[in-house]
Amino acid sequence: MADNYSITLDIKRYDPDTKKTWFQSYKLDAGRILRFVDLFRRINNEQDPSLAWGSSCEHGQCGSCAVRVNGKPLLACELLVENAVKDFGTTKFRVEPISIAPVVRDLVVDLEKAYEKVHRAKPYLIKRAPLPPQSSYYQLSPKEIERYEDATRCINCFSCADACISSHKNFIGPNAAMASIVRLMDPREEEKEERLKLLYSEEGIYRCHSSKACSFVCPKEIDVAHFIALAKEGAFRGDNGE
Ligand code: SF4
Ligand code: FES
Repeated sequence: MADNYSITLDIKRYDPDTKKTWFQSYKLDAGRILRFVDLFRRINNEQDPSLAWGSSCEHGQCGSCAVRVNGKPLLACELLVENAVKDFGTTKFRVEPISIAPVVRDLVVDLEKAYEKVHRAKPYLIKRAPLPPQSSYYQLSPKEIERYEDATRCINCFSCADACISSHKNFIGPNAAMASIVRLMDPREEEKEERLKLLYSEEGIYRCHSSKACSFVCPKEIDVAHFIALAKEGAFRGDNGE
């Protein structure tokens, strides 16, 4: 493994003032453990302060740095130069914004717009089930939690939505569907009907083509397709999924 690589980033640019889109090439000598967010920052500092990109936590926890690299959606704060070279077999990378919402500028997309679908799925308890008698809290058994705890690792990076092959513009998308499915599996949620109505509606899970691209790209290694498959099999109709 080399210590340094000569990297070329072909980055998709978008100028909202002129509405112009183009690819701009940047060359960098980069240490092997630099991350792609570090490369973007170096471009800003050393070559082009006008390049716009997004990040917040830079620890794989907020989802705001998702971009497409050579066609694959991933987190720019988790992608090390050495892993990118190894995984893609090249030192030349095409970097584009993810496709789930309109581009604001360069690699920055309108996350407010993207979150509209998640908000429609109501990723919280709509109506709390009554607390057990003489108790001030819910106690979930390890078995109950095990059924859906993987899905609670979702950071809404929208990589799964970007990779999704469903072309139907109304499809709520894998992460939003999963957010609702999780609450169907959650014994603390009493409002099942509203959730089922959304999941089996025109914008629901039957728009999914079961390609499993969502599971393949998820940086949190959540088997998103598994949760959607459970709903497709009708696992939540009539009870809470048992
Ligand atoms: S399921 Fe995975 S890929 Fe999809 S939004 Fe959540 S963390 Fe990102
Ligand atoms: S910046 Fe938060 S996940 Fe990358």
